[in-house]
Amino acid sequence: MDKLIIKGRVVLNGEVSVSGAKNAVLPMLCASVMASNSSVTLKNIPHLHDVTTTVRLLRQMGVSVTLDDNMDIQLDPSTIDNFYAPYNLVKTMRSSILVLGPLLSKFGSAKVSLPGGCAIGTRPVEMHLDALSQMGASINIDNGYISASSKKLIGTDIRFPKITVTGTENILMASTLAEGKTIISNAAREPEVVDLANFLNKMGASITGQGTDVIEINGVEELRGVSYTALPDRIETGTFLVAAAITGGHVTVKNTISAHVNTIIEKLRDSGAHVTTTETSVTLDMKGKRPVSVDIETGAYPLFPTDMQAQLTALNTVAKGISIIKENIFENRFMHVQEMTRMGADIRLEQNCAIISGKEELVGASVMATDLRASASLILAGLAATGTTEIERIYHIDRGYDCIEEKLRQLGADIHRVPM
Ligand code: EPZ
Repeated sequence: MDKLIIKGRVVLNGEVSVSGAKNAVLPMLCASVMASNSSVTLKNIPHLHDVTTTVRLLRQMGVSVTLDDNMDIQLDPSTIDNFYAPYNLVKTMRSSILVLGPLLSKFGSAKVSLPGGCAIGTRPVEMHLDALSQMGASINIDNGYISASSKKLIGTDIRFPKITVTGTENILMASTLAEGKTIISNAAREPEVVDLANFLNKMGASITGQGTDVIEINGVEELRGVSYTALPDRIETGTFLVAAAITGGHVTVKNTISAHVNTIIEKLRDSGAHVTTTETSVTLDMKGKRPVSVDIETGAYPLFPTDMQAQLTALNTVAKGISIIKENIFENRFMHVQEMTRMGADIRLEQNCAIISGKEELVGASVMATDLRASASLILAGLAATGTTEIERIYHIDRGYDCIEEKLRQLGADIHRVPM
């Protein structure tokens, strides 16, 4: 078990490149099992625990997976010999549920452990299962496992009662090889969903409407292996922009897609940052100023992303004025608040809102990461705090950020990983 040691109050300056998007790569790895007698090559893959866990899961199914030295991944599903996603793997990464749609659609069978909850919420998957049942799958749940089977999925009209990202992705993947047309209404519009749809279309699927709330899929006979480069990570992009803002610095984030972070840029401009963009980069210059408090309300894309809520909470703890952060997606996504309070932050929780009274400074302390984005927000608070911050349980951070301390050191941060 490692921990991160941060000496705060260092102004960040310079350039940093982001890695591929975890939440695009994970469904693409799962979709690769649907390729017939040819292999899939995925590029721009981030070095993340969630990626290696998904690779382990696919290898356990018999898929041959090789990684070359620049981390491009080759997958050959022709050797797959079982359709089983065991609890010991799924419990460490609930997005393993994304193998369900592909296995059911391609092989007509899947046994996947129920993912269970995590720190940010109960994370149910009933919308995934209801939708697959509407497509003709028979679904049983016993002993904590989903057992699903179907001779051939039948395309139909699916309307999600709530927007669900991986629910949309599971049905999107399942529909590509189903009989006939599927229409997904109230679909998720995240860029990662669009990237998955574009990847599937390159494999020979017939998908239109991705990026809108109605996606149409005409089932095809088979999908073939292709080479595809995943889009850059918009949440990593936003996290580095907040790192610049919270330290009063001047940072350019490269190899990203600025159009995917519009709501984040808007909020950072409201906090007093000067932000300029090109198509593939975003430059934030805080000019040494203390940020101004900004109110945040999370929602499904293109609204403000819940995965950036903890990071903006950190910024508001040292901003001028009072702010209200409203979390509309997950029921327990304020685990970072009690840790920031240990650093002197003034935050009051009321139902799904955090009311923050910005302080001139935070003071470094020993804190504990609880989930992926909360750990990123504690790093940001540590960068701004006076003195030293030690962050424990950083395996959470390694699930979703590729070499974050190296990238922050590139910008001048005094941050190191030490064994506990
Ligand atoms: C995806 O999770 C992301 N994970 C999450 O990123 C992200 O926070 C979330 O979407 C929201 O944008 C991946 O893409 C791997 P949802 P997902 O289904 O799909 C409820 C990160 O930090 N719901 O869109 O699991 C659910 O409880 C992670 O990278 C049901 O009630 O989220 C939540 O309240 C964290 N029943 C809301 O819907 C269901 O069947 C949205 O969840 C499914 C979801």
